[in-house]
Amino acid sequence: MAGRPGLPDSSGHAIDHVRGHHAHGVRVAGRTVCSANSRHGHQVVRFVCEPCGYAIRPARAANRLGPWSPWGRAVRLHREFSSLLFEEMSRRRATGIETRDDVLSMLLQARDESGAPLDDEALRDEMLTLLLAGHETTAASLSWVIYRLLANPEVAERARQETVEVTGTGPVRPEHVGRLRYLDAVLKETMRLDPVIPNAGRALQADVTLSGRELPAGVVVAPCIYLAHRRADSWPEPLRFNPERFMGGRADPYAFFPFGGGTRRCIGAAFAIYQMKIVLAEILSRVEFKPVEGYVARLERRSITFAPSQGLPVVVTRRLHRERIPPKIAPHPLLD
Ligand code: HEM
Repeated sequence: MAGRPGLPDSSGHAIDHVRGHHAHGVRVAGRTVCSANSRHGHQVVRFVCEPCGYAIRPARAANRLGPWSPWGRAVRLHREFSSLLFEEMSRRRATGIETRDDVLSMLLQARDESGAPLDDEALRDEMLTLLLAGHETTAASLSWVIYRLLANPEVAERARQETVEVTGTGPVRPEHVGRLRYLDAVLKETMRLDPVIPNAGRALQADVTLSGRELPAGVVVAPCIYLAHRRADSWPEPLRFNPERFMGGRADPYAFFPFGGGTRRCIGAAFAIYQMKIVLAEILSRVEFKPVEGYVARLERRSITFAPSQGLPVVVTRRLHRERIPPKIAPHPLLD
């Protein structure tokens, strides 16, 4: 059963957290990036994710055996994505884009230093990166937080108490997010131990000497986020899950970089944290859950990320504050 974050049932069925967060991430990414409604959002993101899933699995990528091979399917989906997007771009150019406030319209209006707009292929590639990077990462990170909360019930209880104190019995509002400090620390401690993207690559533009090793320009170096986050010299008792580490101010960006670093650091970092805190606060204040008996999480590759295996099945044991659940969200005027 696919659980929608925040609205699982309490019948004792296992809920697939990764799928639930993934579906939610798709909706958010689809809406913010191109105002896609749920149906179109899923279609667009399917076109984006499947090809990337194929492209990063070497066995599949190597399998370039014509149109019905996995690679052939990836190429077809990429083509479908491009034509869907190009159609939407022409429609917007024809009908005016000033009334829209999503990323697609912003990119359509963007101009470079010489005043030229992005060409269609460049714009398509930007959209592809945003749609993919914008949902898969948040979904996997949220699932790891749930995994850590299940393994540390006292942490879950403290985060739940904070959420209820800050938000009362109503829905989580934007002004609550900054006040959820412990939840913020829980999220960061999870991203320390379970970064969903394990490394960030850079091609050297000049020769560099790194730890006594000479590396010529052109070499690709990929600092390993996963290993840096587990170094005992930066993180005492590195394997212990301890959100307190993040309660005392900003972490050293050379020791903690789940969003990469420098000028190419993730542009969605602040948005991702904001979104994840809202989802977690809603879940914590609505339901209690427990792990499925016998489940042991393994790292599983999901498109560009590492997520808990088997979708992280959990069982909801109790529903809290039913009145928190907001009425069905009215359709966005720009969507349907
Ligand atoms: C928990 C959620 C997320 C994680 C862990 C994450 C992680 C990362 C990492 C590690 C990079 C590579 C940075 C580097 O090379 O230094 C990256 C790049 C990027 N991310 Fe995220 N990301 C998340 C959410 C998002 C969201 C929500 C968006 C968009 C709305 C987004 C858009 C991007 C883009 C466009 C890039 C490429 C930036 C560039 O090359 O200049 N990410 N992300």
